[in-house]
Amino acid sequence: MNIILLGPPGAGKGTQAQRLQQERGMVQLSTGDMLRAAVASGSDLGKKAKGIMERGELVSDELMVGLIEDRIAQPDCAKGFILDGFPRTQAQAEALDRMLTASGAKLDRVVEMEVDEAALTERIVGRFSCAKCGAGYHDKFKQPKVEGVCDVCGNKEFTRRKDDNAETVKTRMAAYRAQTEPLLPYYGTRGVLRKVDGMAPMDTVYRQISAILAGT
Ligand code: AP5
Repeated sequence: MNIILLGPPGAGKGTQAQRLQQERGMVQLSTGDMLRAAVASGSDLGKKAKGIMERGELVSDELMVGLIEDRIAQPDCAKGFILDGFPRTQAQAEALDRMLTASGAKLDRVVEMEVDEAALTERIVGRFSCAKCGAGYHDKFKQPKVEGVCDVCGNKEFTRRKDDNAETVKTRMAAYRAQTEPLLPYYGTRGVLRKVDGMAPMDTVYRQISAILAGT
């Protein structure tokens, strides 16, 4: 099964994608994580993306489509993938359609995570993750079970994203509204779009997504 999680910054896409990967064996394809890895490695892609990401703008369609095309072609994606952060523009959505058609795969569901915009800044500025395995946490909503120790791998170092500040969130939200939100009718008319209440507790959101996937 191949799905897209669609929603604004901080909607919970990464949180739910990580859990779907752990519990259902689907592969999480987070373009944000891929870009952050490229920035950390100092690759050409990373050098091009760094400033754009720090400003909260979108990296070019050409770079993003190439990145996802290479990743989807890898064998592990045959067991099903969760797109988290892609597509974000009409051009990316159309490129995804072409990739899926070419490989004989299909898009089963697009899950829209509906959230109250006012809550997103608090979610984003409180976010941190394990520096080793990437497991996600939040100062208020999801602290590690043992303070200072990652639940998943036991590591004791955590990291915060450079773009997780109130100023950059405004630019990221504007990019979402202008370029990504218009994809909702694009998928709605194709009958694959389903909505979940992204303001509900994380476990409840997960149950809503699971129910949608069970109905495919
Ligand atoms: P990306 O990394 O994709 O960032 P984003 O879309 O802004 O999304 P976030 O990671 O901020 O939010 P999320 O929805 O995953 O929320 P999370 O689960 O972490 O992209 C970063 C940048 O890369 C972009 O700005 C752009 O420059 C570039 N980029 C990436 N893809 C691109 C593309 N396709 N095209 C062009 N450029 C691209 O949750 C947030 C926090 O809230 C967490 O701490 C979590 O614990 C908490 N939380 C989650 N769910 C709940 C809940 N139900 N209740 C309470 N708290 C919750």
